[in-house]
Amino acid sequence: HATITGAVFTSHVPAIGAAIDHRKTDEPYWQPVFEGYEFSKRWAAENLPDVVFLVYNDHASAFDQSMIPTFVLGTGAAYPTADEGYGPRPVPGIEGHPELAAHIAHSLIRDDFDLTLVNEMSVDHGLTVPLSLMFGDVEQWPCKVIPFHVNVVQYPVPSGERCFQLGRALRRAVESYDRPLKVQVWGTGGMSHQLQGPRAGLINRAWDNAFLDRLVEDPAGLAQVPHLEYVEEAGSEGIELVMWLIARGAMSDIDAGGEIEAKHRFYHVPASNTAVGHLILENHPRAETPAEKE
Ligand code: DHB
Ligand code: FE
Repeated sequence: HATITGAVFTSHVPAIGAAIDHRKTDEPYWQPVFEGYEFSKRWAAENLPDVVFLVYNDHASAFDQSMIPTFVLGTGAAYPTADEGYGPRPVPGIEGHPELAAHIAHSLIRDDFDLTLVNEMSVDHGLTVPLSLMFGDVEQWPCKVIPFHVNVVQYPVPSGERCFQLGRALRRAVESYDRPLKVQVWGTGGMSHQLQGPRAGLINRAWDNAFLDRLVEDPAGLAQVPHLEYVEEAGSEGIELVMWLIARGAMSDIDAGGEIEAKHRFYHVPASNTAVGHLILENHPRAETPAEKE
């Protein structure tokens, strides 16, 4: 059966994609950002999964005011890169995994998560920037990607607790898939940022770092944090961080004796208007008990 081998958490600032695409990664402003992902690129190459389940939010590229699905599971075979105003980024489109996605759809919907299933959509910087950061500048992404969009743009948006429970259900879904696939779950967006209004430019280092601590050590408690705290403390776009709870929920449950290992942690300001946060977690091999019995 399939296993979740690790989780990657990262901000998805569009200017990071532009810096890569325009070969500016060595410039003094950008160099410290990309240095924080050097370990990550090696780790990604050495721990290549069959599938990345990539939790992100679309930013009015594929969905807008005409259609506001809360949770979108990409069940299609392939997805092109969105044109966000300057033409599509010069990165490959992604290949999905329709079979695993269909299995996850059945499992999550039976577990009472009412997903929207989408076979055709474009994917924007929310998804492509994390792929670029982890896999670099490539002709083709090195694995399949199942896109999972969360509405964190137009209120009402789902709670941290809803996202965390969805992550737990996702783990059950993946582990009940009948083929030996290695799956990573990525949570993207954040950390603190506000793009509009009088507080535009807001950054909150202390809150962000406490979020990173709690994501590793106390995810169930962190899931109780209400929307208003994200917005007050991490800015209007800081709410993107609820998506990280889906990926964390899919990892070992430390409250039930599971073990995880933090392989890498990085935090940097500035990058455009956003505090860049990044974490890599692995499920400890000993935590994967159900597999051995079959
Ligand atoms: C920025 C960050 C985002 O997460 C986003 O979606 C758009 C812009 C920024 O910092 O510029
Ligand atoms: Fe964003």
